[in-house]
Amino acid sequence: MYESLELLKEEIIGCKKCDLCKTRKNSVPGKGNKNAEVIFVGEAPGRTEDVNGEPFIGSAGKKLTTALENAGLTRDMVYITNIVKCRPPENRKPTEMETKQCQMYLKNEFSLIKPKIVCLLGNTAYKTILGGSEISKNHGKLVQKDGFSYFITFHPAAVIYNQKLVKDFENDIKKIVKLLKEK
Ligand code: URA
Ligand code: SF4
Repeated sequence: MYESLELLKEEIIGCKKCDLCKTRKNSVPGKGNKNAEVIFVGEAPGRTEDVNGEPFIGSAGKKLTTALENAGLTRDMVYITNIVKCRPPENRKPTEMETKQCQMYLKNEFSLIKPKIVCLLGNTAYKTILGGSEISKNHGKLVQKDGFSYFITFHPAAVIYNQKLVKDFENDIKKIVKLLKEK
């Protein structure tokens, strides 16, 4: 257990626990408000994130930012992170081993921030944390597990070319705001 997000970040920046450290340019620790009421969890950094060391700043990140703003949130109000903190080569999905090695960092982010809601963005986050599948059937649901409330929605990259999914995604994010007010 780490004492602070700052220490956790330093550890992630120097981490060599899995082979992704050999191909990354930069580790990508989570970023945002240490008192956030909601944490967003994606899959893994992409190219732009790997170059800059910041989560969700490429095209998927823009979709996420827009959905947040439509719901009255800013990126500074929330905390944004990923299942694994280093980019897998060619954006392949992280392996089970990589996910396992990296999981401790995510757990520490949860326990340091103590969010009211953890929003799982897309299948990799949903499967890793809740063992779930079929986002299209389960998006918009809130699931309780191990003392945390998990909200399920699409990955913002999955909605980029689908206007209907964009609406569904944006409505899900608005629903989170509503749920937070009730908590
Ligand atoms: N996709 C993700 O899952 N995470 C990022 O940080 C960027 C793209
Ligand atoms: Fe360490 Fe996670 Fe990066 Fe692997 S993906 S090197 S476990 S920070």
